[in-house]
Amino acid sequence: MTEQVSQIVIAVDGPAAAGKGTLSRLLASHYRLSHLDTGLTYRATAKALLDRGLPLDDEDMAAEIARTLDLGRLDRSVLSAHEIGEAASKVAVMPKVRRALVEAQRVFAATPPGSVLDGRDIGTVVCPNALIKFYVTASPEVRARRRHDEITANGGSADLDGILADIIKRDARDAERADSPLRPASDAHLLDTTKMSIETAFEAARILVDAALEH
Ligand code: C5P
Repeated sequence: MTEQVSQIVIAVDGPAAAGKGTLSRLLASHYRLSHLDTGLTYRATAKALLDRGLPLDDEDMAAEIARTLDLGRLDRSVLSAHEIGEAASKVAVMPKVRRALVEAQRVFAATPPGSVLDGRDIGTVVCPNALIKFYVTASPEVRARRRHDEITANGGSADLDGILADIIKRDARDAERADSPLRPASDAHLLDTTKMSIETAFEAARILVDAALEH
């Protein structure tokens, strides 16, 4: 796989519900870049397996689905369900699936006018030459609370303790897998949003991006 990025790319990584999606959308809109939530690509692959009644560890079938995924048709409202996130993290341990999705993500990243990609391995694997990299994190308790509030604000019901347990389990699965584990790139800027609003994190990120663009 060749990295074909020559456009401006902003890489945003971090664990589930740390605020990286919101931060990425704010950055994309501010700098007029396109945005790809790469988590949706793993979610769409997992959902296609579930819809067909196939096991989540069928690597060849999952890779085939991943290769034919249309990045323009990722429907967040359908894919954002909590259970699909769980399923996605199981699909995401399989190297053939990762290879197919990373290839598509790199094509997206290389397309003008440039892009913000958010995920787990953007700064380390997908776009190691990104203009600037952020690693957004927060305590598991704060992330569970945010996810809980998001679900209830949308009229759903949620169990805070269950969400916290799932977040801890998913962090471990993402950080301990052999292929592209979740970890900050050595040159990533850390943004801990435990006690910081996403808007404040955006301001901090904007100043750093402006400085990187001046160089
Ligand atoms: O970010 P989101 O919660 O939508 O991601 C769902 C799952 O997809 C993650 O828990 C992770 O296992 C996987 N993922 C990944 N690499 C990415 C983005 C997501 O492994 N770049």
